[in-house]
Amino acid sequence: MTKILSIVGARPQFIKLAPLQDELSKQHESIILHTGQHYDTEMSQLLFDQLHIPSPDYNLGIGSGSQGTQTGKMLEGIESALLKEEPDIVIVFGDTNSTIAGSLAATKLHIPVVHVEAGLRSFNRRMPEEINRVLTDHCSDILFAPTVSAVTNLEKEGITENVHNVGDIMYDAIIRNLPIAKATSTILDNLGLSQGSYDVLTIHRQENTDERNNLVNIIETLVKSEEKIIFPVHPRTIKYLHEYGLSDKVRDSFIKMIRPLGYLDFLHLVANANKILTDSGGVQKEAYLLEKPCITLRNETEWVETVEDGWNILVGSNQEHIISAMEHFCPSGQTKNHYGYGDSAKKIVTVIDNYLTKSLIREN
Ligand code: UD1
Ligand code: UDP
Repeated sequence: MTKILSIVGARPQFIKLAPLQDELSKQHESIILHTGQHYDTEMSQLLFDQLHIPSPDYNLGIGSGSQGTQTGKMLEGIESALLKEEPDIVIVFGDTNSTIAGSLAATKLHIPVVHVEAGLRSFNRRMPEEINRVLTDHCSDILFAPTVSAVTNLEKEGITENVHNVGDIMYDAIIRNLPIAKATSTILDNLGLSQGSYDVLTIHRQENTDERNNLVNIIETLVKSEEKIIFPVHPRTIKYLHEYGLSDKVRDSFIKMIRPLGYLDFLHLVANANKILTDSGGVQKEAYLLEKPCITLRNETEWVETVEDGWNILVGSNQEHIISAMEHFCPSGQTKNHYGYGDSAKKIVTVIDNYLTKSLIREN
């Protein structure tokens, strides 16, 4: 039996791991290493519970820190675990500091690295995520791209071998969990909401939180809009809302701040919303797949198809652009299957199996 070790650490990675873990564990010894990058109950344990992900075999408990401190501590902890476990393959997801630490630790120990969500690019090197994803792609042995545009991005950087467009694994998660969310979530009742009567807001990008003017512009504009907005606040953002004196303004407005939601409640909230305002990668895609207009509080996106099809508009933190989009943005075109068919996890495991079989033949 082959041993596969998956490295996760942040909220979206737990969501991506869930469908893959189910497939992997059917035929492999599938070990989970959680770096501890996210640690609040709502950001970690709640997702493990709701998505029925087994408890991690390792939790390094690294927690928060500067880019270098956090990544460095992860690198050290992951290396120790890899030396102990000697997995046949390491899987990393997305573009967080847990991703780069995992790929770097594994590749230096000559363990093949699998990158799920390869080839995404914002072409903005000021984002820590862009550095993480570029470097991870360049040291990966198997690259699972979610879209055609991601494959093209890799080609432009000279990466053409072992690249597979398997669709987006978050689509697997949505297909599987949407009916469960519909049947079990009480979030609309809890918040006194009716279908289509509210917008959903999420903000957590460094460029929008650490840059005072950007967060102030966004929040003040949304407060003035007097639209009913549900705002599950990321722990990074709550700190800055207080620091910039914005919390009271929000509290006195139509914006309802709540703690981060579990995945099922969040999906249900998005599925019944009027529109979505976000700087999250995952949420932009969810909006598209659930056919909700998305106003993206960034100047660029990795999920270019959502914009090309007219369902997503990039407004950054510009007050006029935000107001104009809130008043006029009303997509109507057809969404397409850029993100595959929700069978990504199965496809990934098939490719990994073939790779392992070929490696075994080469070794013997
Ligand atoms: C990280 C990822 C980002 C991803 C996001 C998903 C990097 C560089 N960034 O951003 O790509 O989109 O996760 O949500 O890896 N905090 C808590 N409790 C927690 C986690 C964080 O209070 O459980 C607070 C801490 O103050 C911390 C801050 O949030 O300093 C930022 O956390 P961190 O994990 O460094 O980055 P994210 O903004 O969450
Ligand atoms: N999400 C959640 N609860 C929330 C907000 C978001 O479960 O309160 C989910 C959401 O459904 C999406 C994922 O978290 O699948 C996105 O994670 P995040 O925005 O933190 O990171 P990103 O995708 O930008 O890396």
